[in-house]
Amino acid sequence: MNGKTIWIIFLSGFWFVLNDGWYLSVSVADDHDDKENSWYHKILDWDDDDDENHKRRKRNRKRHRDNEHDESYLKPVNNPTYKEECGGCHFAYQPELLPEACWMKILTNLDDHFGESIELDDDSKEAILDYLKANSADYSSAKRAVKIMESLGNHVPMRITDIPYIREKHHELDPEIFERESIESLSNCVVCHTTAEKGIYEDDNVRIPK
Ligand code: HEC
Ligand code: HEC
Repeated sequence: MNGKTIWIIFLSGFWFVLNDGWYLSVSVADDHDDKENSWYHKILDWDDDDDENHKRRKRNRKRHRDNEHDESYLKPVNNPTYKEECGGCHFAYQPELLPEACWMKILTNLDDHFGESIELDDDSKEAILDYLKANSADYSSAKRAVKIMESLGNHVPMRITDIPYIREKHHELDPEIFERESIESLSNCVVCHTTAEKGIYEDDNVRIPK
């Protein structure tokens, strides 16, 4: 072996150790994005599989974060027929506040709606029912909707304010406040929950009117 060959072997060995070392440290620091951009990775173009996995994990983490954000809140009402026909006398409650069976019960008893008689043409009624059913608490993963479903069991109340979870959340309110004209009833979610229209019922946004 001449001097040149020895040098080449020595340098190759050095190169190998160097890369392995880097590879290990990158695996440990997998949560960082620097792997995709590192120069040696581009030159060597190895472990493509690992790269794919890395990207997929990154996508999943992002999706998970987005969901977490959405699922804290209820979806704001976005159906014009529902808003118009059911939001005139009171707040247009989010569909996720009741299960499908309750909405069905309410819509089949419109001639005696808490002392009111509500007239709706068949098309509007169908559009409203479709909207309420498709977006009801049954199919929601929002944390409040899940709590509502758990707390109801097999009960089918006509009121959101009859759901045990909702009653329990308000049981510390002094009954006398409902004599105030500004409040009147627990059904008036919007007077205390300043962000109710946005589907946000966090306690930070509650303000009880005088
Ligand atoms: C003519 C007025 C009027 C219209 C229109 C109306 N409601 Fe009501 N609704 C009432 C009254 C009055 C109450 C009882 C409120 C109370 O006790 O404070 C009520 C209560 C409710 C409640 C129970 C609220 C609670 O206490 O949890 C739901 C749910 C409800 N309505 C859904 C609907 C739907 C769905 C529609 C559309 C098909 C609709 N309402 C249209 C008058 C109306
Ligand atoms: C008189 C004022 C008032 C009205 C009306 C009212 N709430 Fe509340 N709500 C409160 C207060 C106060 C709390 C408790 C906040 C706390 O725990 O500090 C609360 C708590 C809640 C919570 C639990 C929030 C949490 O962070 O755990 C939900 C969900 C809720 N209300 C939904 C509703 C809905 C839906 C309606 C209408 C059907 C409604 N509320 C009507 C005052 C009100």
